[in-house]
Amino acid sequence: MNQITDKQQIEQDFINSLLQAKNLSKNPAKALGHGEAPVNIALSKYWGKRSIPLNLPTNSSLSISLPGLGTKTAISLLTATENQQDQIWLNGKLLNSDEVFAKRLSKFLDYFRADKNQSFKIETENNVPTAAGLASSASGYAALVLAINDLFDWNLDKQQLSILARIGSGSASRSLYSGFAIWHQGQNPDGSDSFAEQIPLSSTATQVWLQLRIGLVKVDVSQKPISSTAGMQQTLNTCELYSAWPAQAENQVKIIREAVETGNFSLLGSTAEHNALSMHATMIATWPPIVYWQPESLAAMQKVWQLREKGVEVYFTMDAGPNLKLIYLAKDEPQIINEFKELETIQPFN
Ligand code: PMV
Repeated sequence: MNQITDKQQIEQDFINSLLQAKNLSKNPAKALGHGEAPVNIALSKYWGKRSIPLNLPTNSSLSISLPGLGTKTAISLLTATENQQDQIWLNGKLLNSDEVFAKRLSKFLDYFRADKNQSFKIETENNVPTAAGLASSASGYAALVLAINDLFDWNLDKQQLSILARIGSGSASRSLYSGFAIWHQGQNPDGSDSFAEQIPLSSTATQVWLQLRIGLVKVDVSQKPISSTAGMQQTLNTCELYSAWPAQAENQVKIIREAVETGNFSLLGSTAEHNALSMHATMIATWPPIVYWQPESLAAMQKVWQLREKGVEVYFTMDAGPNLKLIYLAKDEPQIINEFKELETIQPFN
């Protein structure tokens, strides 16, 4: 196993305290643990960490999960004779332990080993097409944490699972839920109050959200030029505009939450688009600048604005990449597909 770093020690201490408080053993209760989780798209974004080791955000965020797109994971222990390294299988292929993905996962698994010689077999199936331009780390860590909880029979509640997933990847805290989820920034230095929860919907609001559609506009699906963690730090350290971001984002989470609860599509869409552009403004005003957009990204934004001028109510959001996610209602889909011929469409509530 890798040598433990300061960062890992902080996380390990926190995870130990969480598991000890619940008196949980690190010995498996069954041979195989399973977990399954969807990807999610933030409508009000997480951009900035107040603690890097614990993935604690500078602001709350709010997301929608995309059913049918995500990760399924099975976890088991390898027997003592085989126990040199973890075996990590991704979509039926055994990964080389030097691969970045395998290393990152093994580091995360270190927190859950009964002793340093214990190793795991992970079989993970990702049906998020790499070509969709969606990050799979959120569904990946959420599914892994669910599988670990199942293997050890811990029966952790959703909040605790969300905290563990957050330590793997911030946005994973929101992937424990279907529908809309809010990740509370929290105040405690140990992150014990920084978890996500689902936003319950009234039957009136449900009627509106049954019509909600998300469209994926693929501009470029190659690896992003700068990881979100590095991008966030660079923004925090050099962008003067950033000081306005946490309060704005916190306020927009409140507005979108209200829009979700009252079934107000226009308020949800317009606030989500404003929020995404504000996040990208802080990235652009970073030095050296972080520009995830490509010329086609801007062309797609202009198409969205032109559609809106024609009365078609469509909005977009964008993450740390050049692809757009369109937000609209079912009735407008034909006109939107007419403009975006390759659009991949998702019904979040079906
Ligand atoms: O948790 P990460 O490292 O995948 O960061 C996610 C950052 C954004 O996708 C840009 C915003 C968000 O809230 O998902």
